[in-house]
Amino acid sequence: MTKITVVGSASMDLVVTSSIRPGAGETVLGESFKTVPGGKGANQAVAAARLGAEVTMIGCVGDDHLGKSILDNFKANGINTDYMGVIEGMESGTAHIILAEGDNSIVVVKAANDHVTPDHIDKAVDVIKASDIVLIQQEIPEETVVYVSELCGKYNVPLMINPAPARSVPQDVVEQASYITPNEHEADILFGKESLSDVLRRYPNKLIVTEGKKGVRYFDGKEEVVVSGYSVEAVDTTGAGDTFNGAFAVAIAEGMNIKDSLKFANRAASLSVTKFGAQGGMPTRSEVEESL
Ligand code: RIB
Repeated sequence: MTKITVVGSASMDLVVTSSIRPGAGETVLGESFKTVPGGKGANQAVAAARLGAEVTMIGCVGDDHLGKSILDNFKANGINTDYMGVIEGMESGTAHIILAEGDNSIVVVKAANDHVTPDHIDKAVDVIKASDIVLIQQEIPEETVVYVSELCGKYNVPLMINPAPARSVPQDVVEQASYITPNEHEADILFGKESLSDVLRRYPNKLIVTEGKKGVRYFDGKEEVVVSGYSVEAVDTTGAGDTFNGAFAVAIAEGMNIKDSLKFANRAASLSVTKFGAQGGMPTRSEVEESL
């Protein structure tokens, strides 16, 4: 079994559905409210576990009832929680999500996720060393992203960074990573005014730019390649990017080539949006394989 370690956020998503998105100063009546597990790190861990990887999650929750549910959810998905910290007197991370007009708006309160510090990572060096790939995002402190990148460099472990939510990434981390998976907006923040084609050429087979329904774009060393997405009836797009990242990590760690890995990841992501909740529609291995 491939060993995947995810370093990142684990939160609870508080989701309201509404036919109208309220503007500033406006109150609207919604239709439903649900509490479901989320957080980009946790979502990517669950996506990878459902697809058959042996997954360890490194993160932190608070000592509140949400933290307990978050840990229970990891266990229910077969994820190793030995390196999950429970921070005394602290709330668990939450994401406040409005699903309206076919898309989401999200406010994240990081809370315990800010305690995923280099000191916390030090407790998990052995598991990082033994990983086939490490997956990281940006809902945790930047110094931790830098530290994990250094550890991966030191121990020669491939690192996949999903630079979401949008925040610049230190150049050393960009150079150290084996794969970087921004969406178009995040790519703009990372690489500024430079044209996307030039940036893709600078990072062949490493920079993978996701373009929503259109699919993903990368440079294979000879030409720019677009791996198309799949069109489906979307119920909730929350977590589609996380499913993509978890699935891509699984496929790459199993030794699939980049193009096939991206097809696999696109398929998994397209299935994930057909159900409610970031993790609700994340497919199993056989669901992805059958639909491919
Ligand atoms: O990527 C989707 C996730 O972003 C949600 O689950 C929410 O927790 C936010 O962090």
